Amino acid sequence: MMLSEHCPLFNLNPEIPLNGYTYSLCKMQVGIDDLAIYVPKLYVDYKDFAEARGIAPQKLEHGIGIKKMALADTNQDPACMAANACLKLMQRNHLHPKDIGRMYVATESALDESKAMNSFVIGMLEQVYGEGSFEHAGGIECKFACVSGSYALYDNTNWIRAEENNGKAAIVIVSDIAKYDIGSSGEYTQGAGAVAILVKENPRILAFDKKVTSTIIKNEYDFYRPCGKETPLVNGNYSNLLYLIQVRKAFDSYKEKAIRTGLISIKDDESITDYIDLFSVHLPYRKMGEKALAYLLRHEWRHLPRWSYVIKEVAMEEPLPKDPRGTIESILADTEFMKADEKFRRAFVQTSFYNEIFEKKMASSLQASTIIGNLYTASMYMGFRSLLEFEYKKGTDLEAKRVGFGSYGSGSSAMVFSGVIQPQYKEIVKRMNLEVEIGPRKKVSMEEYGKLHENGISFNDSILQTNKEFILAKIGGTTADKAGLREYIYIN
Ligand code: CAA
Repeated sequence: MMLSEHCPLFNLNPEIPLNGYTYSLCKMQVGIDDLAIYVPKLYVDYKDFAEARGIAPQKLEHGIGIKKMALADTNQDPACMAANACLKLMQRNHLHPKDIGRMYVATESALDESKAMNSFVIGMLEQVYGEGSFEHAGGIECKFACVSGSYALYDNTNWIRAEENNGKAAIVIVSDIAKYDIGSSGEYTQGAGAVAILVKENPRILAFDKKVTSTIIKNEYDFYRPCGKETPLVNGNYSNLLYLIQVRKAFDSYKEKAIRTGLISIKDDESITDYIDLFSVHLPYRKMGEKALAYLLRHEWRHLPRWSYVIKEVAMEEPLPKDPRGTIESILADTEFMKADEKFRRAFVQTSFYNEIFEKKMASSLQASTIIGNLYTASMYMGFRSLLEFEYKKGTDLEAKRVGFGSYGSGSSAMVFSGVIQPQYKEIVKRMNLEVEIGPRKKVSMEEYGKLHENGISFNDSILQTNKEFILAKIGGTTADKAGLREYIYIN
């Protein structure tokens, strides 16, 4: 008998122990048990921003999808935001460092060329849990623009699946400050925050599907930040199109795996997207989620019988580029096609076909992005958190629903994977409340925003007084060998 013939989960027959495989391994589900967030309390209001930059506020509200952009205070950095999210996660779940075997921090806002961000986080947490309390654990800082948190989750999931974890859980923290040049078109896609994710066996929220995670990778310069530069160099339109193409390619590979492994079977007139109940994708800004869904559905539907009904509603044929096998540059340079394609996309997202899927499967994941902004590595996970909370508030029964994730990192790599919501999810999701968890927020003036942006205020002169949080207390010592040394304290 083939090992793959019987067990629906691991393709093993649970009745028959074969070659040392055990039923427990076959049944093991690993995934997200809980998530905690940290969002700095300062924000810029989109109307103030629009006025200062001479942009129509409607462009920010509807064209980009931003109302409040979270900003880090002078005494906050990605490491202390990560530690604050992690502390919340541990306290809420009554976890002690001995319960944690690995802690990864994924970020593209590195503080040091060598010292990993998770070491700063461990240092902060040990102020609360005692020096050396995490010594038994391991972990690294991960970098690949906004996709690295997904690689970190995948790695830690497999660490548990491989039973290397000695009964311990892993924590993956995604933390970033998205900062663009003043006056650039990226400036209205900024934000700051962290999400800490508890990964363990028999998770209460979501179990990852096995053998279907798919990736794609290519050397690209759509968005990058050379060492020492605080803000990125961005090719905006190129990055938008590259995101769509790379996620679609990873999705094609996911589809092939999902069908081959029997995770999902589809009939000739069906799309695999029919079997994905909810979507969570990378969200540099809210509108990008809507665009990603439209691109994916067009790709998935255009060969199906339903497409003729879609075309009827769109009332125009789908345009083709002059050179359909051309490069991204040649497609972007094909202005006639780009114009027609924009027109088609705008009409497509107005159709009842698109809207039904958007409202049912994606809209809830976009709510957090509107009031927080871009979190780079943390964007998709804040989106997933938002999806859970707002679907629950709508009264949707999420149990056994499959969530499809589309993660993208410039430079570039995409990862597509999926998971299934677990029966105990309500126990966690019912207490989620984004506004309460962010806490009381303070709107800053454009003048204050400008000073914060140019790092023109000392970290000792923070705008807000915090408590029960880690803050940055000092950078660098008095001697050269202490240059760049960062000290954090917990304000009780
Ligand atoms: N009312 C309503 N909508 C309006 C409007 C108005 N008065 N004026 C303009 N708009 C709409 C436009 O029609 C457009 O909508 P569609 O997308 O539906 O066409 C939208 O506002 C955006 O306007 P523009 O097309 O003029 O775009 P822009 O010049 O403002 O730039 C951007 C947008 C390219 C995303 C830019 O913000 C940018 O470069 N951002 C950083 C890069 C980025 O986020 N790339 C995303 C993919 S890469 C990635 O995801 C990695 C990462 O995290 C960075």
